[in-house]
Amino acid sequence: MTPLDPSTARRAFPALSREYVFMDNAGGSQCLGAVADAVRSYLLERNVQLGASYSVSVEAASHVLAGQTAIARLVGAADRRQVVLGASTTQLLANLARALAPGLGPGDEIVVTNADHEANIGAFRRLESQGVVIREWQLDPGSLTLRLEELEPLLGPRTRLVCMTHCSNILGTIHDVSAVARCVHAAGAQLLVDGVAYAPHRQVDFGALGADYYVLSLYKVYGPHLAALVAPLGHLEALANINHEFLAGEVPYKLQPGNVCFELTAALPAIEDYLRSLGGGDLSAAFSAVAHHEAALAERLLGFLRARRDVTLIGDPSSDPGRRVPTVSFAPHAKAPEAVVRIVDGMNIGIRHGDFYSRRLVEHLGLRERGGVVRVSMVHYNTLSEVDAVIAALERAL
Ligand SMILES: Cc1ncc(COP(=O)(O)O)c(C=O)c1O
Repeated sequence: MTPLDPSTARRAFPALSREYVFMDNAGGSQCLGAVADAVRSYLLERNVQLGASYSVSVEAASHVLAGQTAIARLVGAADRRQVVLGASTTQLLANLARALAPGLGPGDEIVVTNADHEANIGAFRRLESQGVVIREWQLDPGSLTLRLEELEPLLGPRTRLVCMTHCSNILGTIHDVSAVARCVHAAGAQLLVDGVAYAPHRQVDFGALGADYYVLSLYKVYGPHLAALVAPLGHLEALANINHEFLAGEVPYKLQPGNVCFELTAALPAIEDYLRSLGGGDLSAAFSAVAHHEAALAERLLGFLRARRDVTLIGDPSSDPGRRVPTVSFAPHAKAPEAVVRIVDGMNIGIRHGDFYSRRLVEHLGLRERGGVVRVSMVHYNTLSEVDAVIAALERAL
C-alpha cells in the first residue's frame, strides 16, 4: 500500500491553505478545487436546458450524465440509472418514503433505529399516519452498536423495510451491513442504509454490501451540496413515480422531481478523479491509504481522551480502522460541551457540539440536557500536527 501523503491531498483543497484547522468534517467536508472549477465552467460555458438537439444542450447533457456515472462507479453500482441524485440525504429519504408509501398498507412494519440521524428515522415514522407500524431497533447500551440479536425479534412476516446507519455521525462505529442485509432478506424485507458518515472514509461497494437502498451526502465527500441514493434498477422501477405523471417510466428521473442541479452534478467526476488519484488510479488502494492515515489521526486523539479522567468517550475507544471512522465524540464532566467548543473556537479550530440531528441517540445517552457531545470529526486531509493543535486546545478548554 502506498501511504497517503496529506500534503499532496491538501493541495487539492484551496480552503486548506488557510491557517485554520477544519475538524467538523462530518458536518461537511472542504470542497475540491476541481469541483469548484467544474461548477464554474459548466455555468459559464454550457448553462442551457438539457434535452434539446442543439450542440450546447447535447454537450451539457453529457456532462450531467458523466456526473451520475461517476457516482455510480464510486459506489460500485453497475448502472448509472441506479443513482438518484437530490439536494440532500434528508430530501432523498423523504422522497423515498413518499415513493414507497403507496405500496405499504395498514399493519405493514418498518424498523428504524434510535442511533440514526433523524433523516433516516422521521421520514419513515411519518408513515404511521397511514397505518404502518414502526418498530425501534435500539442500540445496545453496553457496546453502543446495533446488534443483530436486538433486530431479530423485531422482524416478522409484515416487516417491509429496515432503516439503519452504516456508521453513526456521533459514534463513528462501523456496522456490518452485509450481515444485517442477510438477516433482513431472510425475513423477506428490504434494507436501507444511511452511509453519510461512512462514505467520506471508506470505499462503498454497493454491489457487495447487499443493501437495497444506500444514501450518501456528496458535500461530505469533498464535493458540492448534493446527495445520492443508490438502489438496484428493479427497486427503483417498482417505486411509485413522484415526478410528472408522464415520467413514470423514467428511472431515475421519476424520483428526481424538478430534476437535479445541473452545474453541481456536472462537477461530480472531479470527486471520483481525486479519490482515485489517492490510490494511483485504484479506488480500493486509495481508501486503504485513507483508512491507514485516518487510524493514526484517530489514535492520537483517542489516546489523549482515553488518558483523561474528566471526559467520557462516547463510542469505541479503539482506533482500529475496521471498527471505526475518525469521528470522535466525548462528554466533558466539568464543563458543558458548548463551553468547551467556544474556547476551542477562539484558536482557529473548527469543532462542534450538539446532537447533530441524531437526537434520539443523544437522548438515549442521557446527554440532551447537557447540550449533547463535543465532536471532533477528522478526514484524510487532516494531519497529525492538526490533531496536536486540537489536543493542546482541549487541554486548555476542558
Ligand atoms: C449520518 C447522517 N445522515 C444523514 C444526514 C443528513 O444529510 P443531509 O444534510 O444531506 O440531509 C447527516 C447530516 O449531517 C448525517 O450526518
